Amino acid sequence: MKTVRPTIGIIGGGNMGTAILSGIHKAYPVIVCEQDKKKCRFLKRTFKLSGQSLRDVIEQAQIIILAVKPQNFDELLQEIESTTGKKKLFISIAAGITTSYIEKRLQRDVKVIRTMPNLPAQIGQGMTAVCGGKSASFSDIKRACQIFNHIGKTVVVKEEWMDAITAVSGSGPAYVFLFIECFTNAAVSLGLSEDLGKALVLQTFRGSWGLFEQQREEASELRARVTSQGGTTQAAVDVFMKYHLEGVFREALQAARNRARELVK
Ligand SMILES: NC(=O)c1ccc[n+]([C@@H]2O[C@H](COP(=O)([O-])OP(=O)(O)OC[C@H]3O[C@@H](n4cnc5c(N)ncnc54)[C@H](OP(=O)(O)O)[C@@H]3O)[C@@H](O)[C@H]2O)c1
Repeated sequence: MKTVRPTIGIIGGGNMGTAILSGIHKAYPVIVCEQDKKKCRFLKRTFKLSGQSLRDVIEQAQIIILAVKPQNFDELLQEIESTTGKKKLFISIAAGITTSYIEKRLQRDVKVIRTMPNLPAQIGQGMTAVCGGKSASFSDIKRACQIFNHIGKTVVVKEEWMDAITAVSGSGPAYVFLFIECFTNAAVSLGLSEDLGKALVLQTFRGSWGLFEQQREEASELRARVTSQGGTTQAAVDVFMKYHLEGVFREALQAARNRARELVK
C-alpha cells in the first residue's frame, strides 16, 4: 500500500531552508514561502516550485518548517497566529527559540518541534538534534526525524540540552573550518605554497577521518600510534599541550553555550 506523504511547508528559503528543501523535495510534496524575490526566483527555477504566499503554506501544508532568523521570528509567529486556526505540526530550526515560547505566541495547544541542524545539511551530511514541545507526540517527533534524516543524521534530545548542542554541532562546522584554516596557514608559514599546503592538509584531514571511521579506535589511541617518543609528531603535540589545546576547546564551547543561553527566548 502506498503511504501518503504529508505536504511540507517551508517558511524562509535561505541557507538552511534551501538545504532542507534540496534534501526532501523528492520525498515529499513541498511548498515554500520566501520573501526575498531573488532567492524566490532561484528556488522556483532550481526546484520547479511555484511561488507561495505565507497563507498558501499555512493552509496547504500539514507540517510547517519555520526557517527564518531568530530576529524575524516574532513577526512570523504573529502572521501565523492571524492566518490559521487549523492543527498543524510546526518545526522550528531557529537557534534559541524554545518550544514554550512558540506555544505561548501561537496561543493554542499547538504541536511544536524544535530542532538544531547544522550547515553540512547542504550536502546531506547534517547533524540535527530534535526535541518536542508539550503537545508534540512521540509520532510527531518521529515524523520530524524522518524529514531531517533526508539531510543527514538525527538525534532526539531533551530541550534543556539544546544550548550545549548549539555549541557543539550547531556552531561546530565553523570550528572545523577554523582548524583547517590555521593548519593550512601554518603549513604556508613553513615555506610551502598555498596550493600545496591546502592539498596536504585536506588529504591529511580526509585520510585521518577515514582511518578513524574504519579502525573504530579512540582518537587518543590512534594519536598514540602515530606519536613515537622523541619524534617529530611528539614535538608538535608537546606544543599543543603547552598551550592547553583541550582547555582552549572547553573554554570556546562554554562561551558558545553561554551565548546560546543569553539568546534564548
Ligand atoms: N545557517 C546555519 O548554519 C544554521 C544552523 C542551525 C540553525 N540555523 C537556524 O536556521 C534559521 C535560518 O538561518 P539561515 O542561515 O538559513 O538564514 P537566512 O539565510 O537568512 O534565511 C532566512 C530566509 O528567510 C526569509 N524570511 C524572513 N522572514 C520571512 C517571512 N516572514 N516569510 C518568508 N521568508 C522570510 C529571509 O529573507 P530576508 O533575507 O529578506 O530577510 C531569508 O531569505 C535561523 O533561525 C538559524 O538560527 C542556521
